Amino acid sequence: MTASTKTAKLELNGKTVDLPVKAGTIGPDVIDIGALYKETKSFTFDPGFTSTAACESQITYIDGDEGILLHRGYPIEQLAEHGDFLETCYLLLYGELPNAAQRRKFDHNITYHTMVHEQMALLFRGFRRDAHPMAVMVAVVGAMSAFYHDSTDINDPRQREVASHRMIAKLPTIAAMAYKYHIGQPFVYPQNNLSYAANFLRMCFAVPCEDYVVNPILARAMDRIFILHADHEQNASTSTVRLAGSSGANPFACISAGIACLWGPAHGGANEAALKMLTEIGRPENIPSFIEKVKDKNSNVRLMGFGHRVYKNYDPRAKIMQQTAHEVLHELGVDNDPLLQVAHDLEKVALSDDYFISRKLYPNVDFYSGIILRAMGFPTSMFTVLFALARTVGWISQWKEMIEEPNQRIGRPRQLYTGPARRDYVAMTKRT
Ligand code: CMC
Repeated sequence: MTASTKTAKLELNGKTVDLPVKAGTIGPDVIDIGALYKETKSFTFDPGFTSTAACESQITYIDGDEGILLHRGYPIEQLAEHGDFLETCYLLLYGELPNAAQRRKFDHNITYHTMVHEQMALLFRGFRRDAHPMAVMVAVVGAMSAFYHDSTDINDPRQREVASHRMIAKLPTIAAMAYKYHIGQPFVYPQNNLSYAANFLRMCFAVPCEDYVVNPILARAMDRIFILHADHEQNASTSTVRLAGSSGANPFACISAGIACLWGPAHGGANEAALKMLTEIGRPENIPSFIEKVKDKNSNVRLMGFGHRVYKNYDPRAKIMQQTAHEVLHELGVDNDPLLQVAHDLEKVALSDDYFISRKLYPNVDFYSGIILRAMGFPTSMFTVLFALARTVGWISQWKEMIEEPNQRIGRPRQLYTGPARRDYVAMTKRT
């Protein structure tokens, strides 16, 4: 944060308060209202946090008007084209791209933490087979704190690091186990000579009775999908992780809270909802009537995979996702997937319709990701699980940054109370 001499003046109840204005490296300034209550006995009111910066962070920067996403300063397009997911993990966690020795050590640490405690398999067996895999993820990741006590002391930097490595390494194993359990197949153990993404595909799609050779194009696409979902600054699930962590809760419990928040259709559940929507539309000729429904305020229908709280321009991740969709579908020989055609046509219609133009609604990361994941063989119920797997590194990096802040305090928002004022208890016989 850059020291600034700028202040904002606020007049309230006949009193003028000077509030310091702080500047970041790039992006909007913030008005520091920390002293507001002490000075004026008033709170600010911003449900949905549309104008509120809840923390200072050095990890991710988004310029929503320009459609820019930077991790530690590096554009997402460059990371997706030249880097890989584990390198992005290192960057998010430690702040710099690794040199060769750091990379080797990091890969080794992650690779040798991929197995989960064998007892965890029994935990899975307690669930119904038809349980949603996200329900299983929330529970199993939360339960990691019961299996890995030796990395739950948040005041010990080494334990924090081990917990971070464990989660990056084990989330693919847990996600694959959730999938295998759901479809009634045996769990597949991780294989350490494979890349992060290839190992994950193998754990999901291999069966013990056959050899499984990972398709390198699909592994690269999976890796790119992980990179695109790795972090996205202070979104709902990340803010949930930070808030949960601010009380001193252990990191496994915090990430489980993040997974629960991600599950919602307005957040991580949108890729599942977008694919469902494309399937329901089915054919390009059904697009106009669907668009009319979206525009009808009484219908409650939204164009899923469109719009974003921050991006008021094309989501840069959506462009890479669209290109990846073409690569994957071509590799699998399904270039003519009717859903891809529907998606293209829908995007074209929406981007030329005044409803979407005036509200600055563009495709987001979820518009094309469902088409790719479906073509790879994942059922829709796994889509948000894959998002959670990839976002884990972002959550952990943000959690670590918060814990390492010297003046870290518990997060405790205030409220505007509009319920009844004080009143006296009424005996049952006197109630109407
Ligand atoms: N379809 C139709 N109308 C929309 C949509 C949409 N997808 N998104 C926003 N609008 C309209 C909304 O009705 C409102 O119109 P009006 O001003 O006439 O009332 C206006 O645009 C502003 O919408 P908002 O709900 O105030 O915007 P928000 O910033 O609170 O919502 C959002 C952001 C992502 C929740 C919303 O755009 C949405 O529901 N999109 C569909 C779900 C989706 O794709 N979510 C994935 C987000 S990216 C992945 C992630 O971060 O998890």
